[in-house]
Amino acid sequence: PSLEKEFLPMYFGWFLSKRSSEILRKAGQAFLDELGSLKAFKKESKYFLSATEDPKIKIDLTSYFVKRPPGVLHCTTKYTDFGKAAGAEEYAQQEAVKTSYGKGFTLSISALFITTKTVGARIELSEQQLLLWPGDADKILPTDNFPRGSRAHITLGCANGVEAVQTGLDLLEFVKLEKVGNKGEQVGEIGGGKLLYFDNGMWMLVLSKKIDVRAIFSGYYG
Ligand code: 2AM
Repeated sequence: PSLEKEFLPMYFGWFLSKRSSEILRKAGQAFLDELGSLKAFKKESKYFLSATEDPKIKIDLTSYFVKRPPGVLHCTTKYTDFGKAAGAEEYAQQEAVKTSYGKGFTLSISALFITTKTVGARIELSEQQLLLWPGDADKILPTDNFPRGSRAHITLGCANGVEAVQTGLDLLEFVKLEKVGNKGEQVGEIGGGKLLYFDNGMWMLVLSKKIDVRAIFSGYYG
């Protein structure tokens, strides 16, 4: 299709099938339920409580991450802001973007993570999928230099007052720690994989069996 400036979407991305969305939502839900009831998590629960809350109360992570994406889940590739974002036009014009538009992909989920702000799923992009990944996405600061595709994720939920854009930045915070050799503290095995704690309320479940999800590459017009 010819994509003209005035018709650029709010963002490009992979949109999961209804079935895959349900599978991933369930996995995320199970992770939150199990994590919330772990002793090791309760010990570190202060990061998820406001100053006035009693540290002995049980934290329900599902209600903590109140803002959940409605409908099918997605992985944003490029946020184009209807053409207003930097590099929007250039991205839309790329051959790989044009030929992949409307095509089916299988994305591989390697981990689930939470911070005090967001909960998300980490995606390992294939070489072919990386062709659709923008060159400027993997940065918190302009000077950052993380491996291509480091930010690839699916937002599963956000805490009150937090916008979805935060999930990718939170994932990059994990990547930043990994880059300096911090592999997290191995808390143990829970359903689905190996649980790592990175301090400051940053938890990651590295899945022992990756979750493959089906998705269509397309644009979201709001
Ligand atoms: P997400 O990809 O982390 O979920 C609509 O707001 C979608 O675009 C959301 O999925 C959101 O975050 C993503 N998004 C919003 N602003 C963005 C930005 N500046 N950069 C990258 N993604 C953004």
